[in-house]
Amino acid sequence: MNTLKHLAIIMDGNGRWAKQKGKMRTQGHKKGIQTVREITQWCAKNDISYLTLYAFSTENWNRPKTEVDFLMKSLKKYLLEEANTYHQNNIRFKAIGNIDAFNDPLKALIKDLEKTTSSNTALTQILALNYGSRDEIKRTFEKILSKKSYKEESNIEELIQSNLDTAGIPDVDLLIRTGGEMRLSNFLLWQSSYAELFFSTTLWPDFTPTELHKIIQSYQERTRRFGGL
Ligand code: IPE
Ligand code: IPE
Ligand code: MG
Repeated sequence: MNTLKHLAIIMDGNGRWAKQKGKMRTQGHKKGIQTVREITQWCAKNDISYLTLYAFSTENWNRPKTEVDFLMKSLKKYLLEEANTYHQNNIRFKAIGNIDAFNDPLKALIKDLEKTTSSNTALTQILALNYGSRDEIKRTFEKILSKKSYKEESNIEELIQSNLDTAGIPDVDLLIRTGGEMRLSNFLLWQSSYAELFFSTTLWPDFTPTELHKIIQSYQERTRRFGGL
């Protein structure tokens, strides 16, 4: 049976969920945040060490300003409300992505939550915020090249790994995308090199711990070969 340390989810389908119900797209995002809460708490209680959720991509700035503004406001509200839940459930919070693009109060909130939850041990919830794999790899190279001693490094793979936003976090074991699209949309390309992929047609606001549990059970039965036999 495969163990599951790191679960990553591309939470897609909020807008279509709203459209189907004749609601505004923002209502889909609102309902999607409730799903984030349920799934995170389920993971904390079910022995998953790392849960990475794709919340806002480097490409999502291309959406109308009203939607981007709503997403930023919702993120801030979520983080403010979540502080207690993190502590009650022993959850550590971490952000990946380029958060320098956010306004100062939001940046400060993210940093503060990372700090105050840093000794929690049950689950690490990683939110990918203004995240794109290519941007992460670009920033990783910038970090490496700014160190004078990089030419003396012999283990280049380890050098890259330890300068990614996910430094210290194990590779993704299982990557789920909801919403029916079968693409990665610039998410964790390096870290998911050997991830098992699962695509669900369920729209993110309708995704449940029961469905997640079923996906995990089918993941556990897969044969992971890592290029061997
Ligand atoms: C995912 O849902 C949430 C974000 C990307 C922020 P979408 O907003 O992409 O929903 P669809 O794909 O339009 O249905
Ligand atoms: C991926 O969803 C990004 C997040 C879930 C945050 P998108 O809806 O932005 O992806 P595309 O545009 O369909 O590839
Ligand atoms: Mg989408």
